[in-house]
Amino acid sequence: MLRALCLTAVMALMAPPGNAQATGASPEATSPAAAPKTLKPIERADATPAGKLKNPYKVSDQTIVKSGQALFVSAACSGCHGGTGGGGICPPLTDGVWIYGGDDDTLFRLVAYGSQTLQSKGYTRKAEENVVAPMPAMGTVVASDDDLWRILTFIRAQYHGPAECQFGCPKSGDAGH
Ligand code: HEC
Repeated sequence: MLRALCLTAVMALMAPPGNAQATGASPEATSPAAAPKTLKPIERADATPAGKLKNPYKVSDQTIVKSGQALFVSAACSGCHGGTGGGGICPPLTDGVWIYGGDDDTLFRLVAYGSQTLQSKGYTRKAEENVVAPMPAMGTVVASDDDLWRILTFIRAQYHGPAECQFGCPKSGDAGH
């Protein structure tokens, strides 16, 4: 039942050929000479070596967490994951289960690229949540890398799983790419 609802929402967002643009690397983004401070999430992911994306913000920064929450809602993440990320019709983001890994790098790329492109880049599924459906590419909905870090900071601030699993659970091998 949940899976059907989540899949319907995912299919609506991933209607072809929309997903194609998510995979296209932007040539300017990879040129270090012209690297601006803020990039679109996909450009930032394309321009950064695997494993090297790092959230500049801290969960203790309430201003960032608040702005991240507003962006989480305006980018429609909440429509699938619930208003505080605890899981709506799609998987929860606040427990100790990380589907592809719980590190900053993996989460940033998952949201920017979507789960299918992420997997095509060598990131693998390590766990399953209560619902299994593809995560759509949101790298064109979220305006910038800065906005995405704010959203991920908000998600981190909602975490209520076991302490040792906050950035990936060592036992399930999802602590890093
Ligand atoms: C149309 C529904 C939908 C929307 C909108 C959506 N997601 Fe997802 N998300 C999913 C699904 C489905 C998965 C599970 C992917 C899988 O199992 O491969 C997922 C997985 C995730 C995960 C990994 C969770 C884990 O436990 O490892 C994160 C983080 C995430 N989404 C963040 C976001 C953010 C941030 C946004 C908004 C920018 C967003 N999602 C928008 C459906 C959605």
